[in-house]
Amino acid sequence: MLSNKKLQSVAQKNHFGIGAFNVYNMESVQSVICAAEAEKSPVIIATTEGAIEYAGHKALANIIKVASEESKVPLSMHLDHGKDLNIIRRCIKLGYSSIMIDASHFEFEKNIRITKKVVDMCHKKGISVEAELGTIGGVEDKVSARKIILTEPEDAKAFVDATGCDTLAVAIGTSHGAYKFAGRSKLDIARLREIKKIVKIPLVLHGASGIPQNIVRKAKRFGAKLGHPHGVSESDTKAAIRNGISKVNIDSDLRLAFDASIRQVIADKPEIFDPRKILGPARSSVCDLIRYKMKLFGSSGKAYLYKRR
Ligand code: G3H
Ligand code: 13P
Ligand code: ZN
Repeated sequence: MLSNKKLQSVAQKNHFGIGAFNVYNMESVQSVICAAEAEKSPVIIATTEGAIEYAGHKALANIIKVASEESKVPLSMHLDHGKDLNIIRRCIKLGYSSIMIDASHFEFEKNIRITKKVVDMCHKKGISVEAELGTIGGVEDKVSARKIILTEPEDAKAFVDATGCDTLAVAIGTSHGAYKFAGRSKLDIARLREIKKIVKIPLVLHGASGIPQNIVRKAKRFGAKLGHPHGVSESDTKAAIRNGISKVNIDSDLRLAFDASIRQVIADKPEIFDPRKILGPARSSVCDLIRYKMKLFGSSGKAYLYKRR
């Protein structure tokens, strides 16, 4: 496995983005690997603390490890939004190649202190560390809805210098979940450019799901109650990558695709009760969506840039 530092530094130099896709069970891991193989793309396999709690840490890590051993694509096993130091310690033991410490909900000095502590722990083992400055809004399992506070470029530079983190998640207007914007997608690309100018390490965009409307329509057609979800537009995503983002976090899109497929299969074929016939098509839908994202982010066909993993 490679660290995100390695994966992203190549992406940064070659102006493409690497998708970080959230997983929580065997099918979701297989969807990610299936897409990366088909697209010959580097990929980041991300587990949140919520996913770890759901699947069991050792079980989930081992599914990822086995799948990655059987694959040739450059990839990392990454902790997404790590907050609990005990979980971070376990990730180190289980062979994660990349860890995110998210202490962005604390004030600046405390965020620095906690991040620095994790950087010291991880660098000893050759694991790269992503940190976050500013707050990305929206809902996560372990955190309640948060107000968006955009990242200040000067603060970002001071934060990176003080912590020694390897990559940085910046807040430029996205939020987690399916309801990101009331109307059109809007990212602060000028701010991103300013950050990029003075912060030399690779940057990360959280809350990057596009919430494809065809998938929303399909889910609704088969009974999902979803309101009016909206995500980041494809042109905004591409602009973010062009202006310095090299890791693009996607979770909600995959959840929607999985959900829509399951609803359709159950509605179309009510006689089916073999879970494999329900989950199999959902796994394929998610793989197809990830392949689409890899093309959009420009990572398709880029596996050759990494000699070994
Ligand atoms: O930020 C990551 C997710 O979209 C939230 O995931 O529900 O597993 O915490 P979670
Ligand atoms: P989405 O909710 O936009 O998929 O964001 C995922 C994310 O940022 C995971 O860390
Ligand atoms: Zn996130």
